[in-house]
Amino acid sequence: MNTLEEMLQMARDAMDKAYAPYSGFSVGAVIKAQSGKLYAGCNVENASYPAGSCAEQGAISAMVLGGDTKIQEIVVMGNGEQLVSPCGSCRQRIREFSIPGTVVHICDRNGVRKSMTLDELLPVSFGPENLKG
Ligand code: THU
Repeated sequence: MNTLEEMLQMARDAMDKAYAPYSGFSVGAVIKAQSGKLYAGCNVENASYPAGSCAEQGAISAMVLGGDTKIQEIVVMGNGEQLVSPCGSCRQRIREFSIPGTVVHICDRNGVRKSMTLDELLPVSFGPENLKG
C-alpha cells in the first residue's frame, strides 16, 4: 500500500468512528507530517452545537501530540455529491502548520476527488510569520 492509499484507509476508519449524531455528517481527516508520520482525526459533535469539533482539528491535535508541526499533505473525507473541502476555520488551522506546497486532498470513501494546495484554498493568508516583527 502506498502512503496515499494508507491515508485513505485511515480516513475511512476515522469517518466510521466519527461522533456526528446531530448532523449525521461524518468526516475523517488524515495528516501526513513532514516526518512521514500519519495522524488521523474525526469530527466530534456536541449537544451544545458550537462546542463540536471538526475532523481536521482532531488530526492536528494528534499531530502536535506526536511531536510534529509541519503538514505535508492532508486528506479530508466525507460523503455527498458536493466536494467536502475544509471549512474556513479549518483552512486557517491547517495554515498554522502548513509549508510551501502543502496539499489538501478532498476525498470521498472511494478516493481523491480533487487535490489543491492550501495556498489555493486560502490565498494571501495570515500565518505565524505575520507576527514576527
Ligand atoms: N466538518 C468537519 O469535520 N470538517 C470540515 O471541514 C467541514 C465540517 C464537520 C463538522 C460537523 O460535525 C459536520 O461536519 C457538519 O458540519
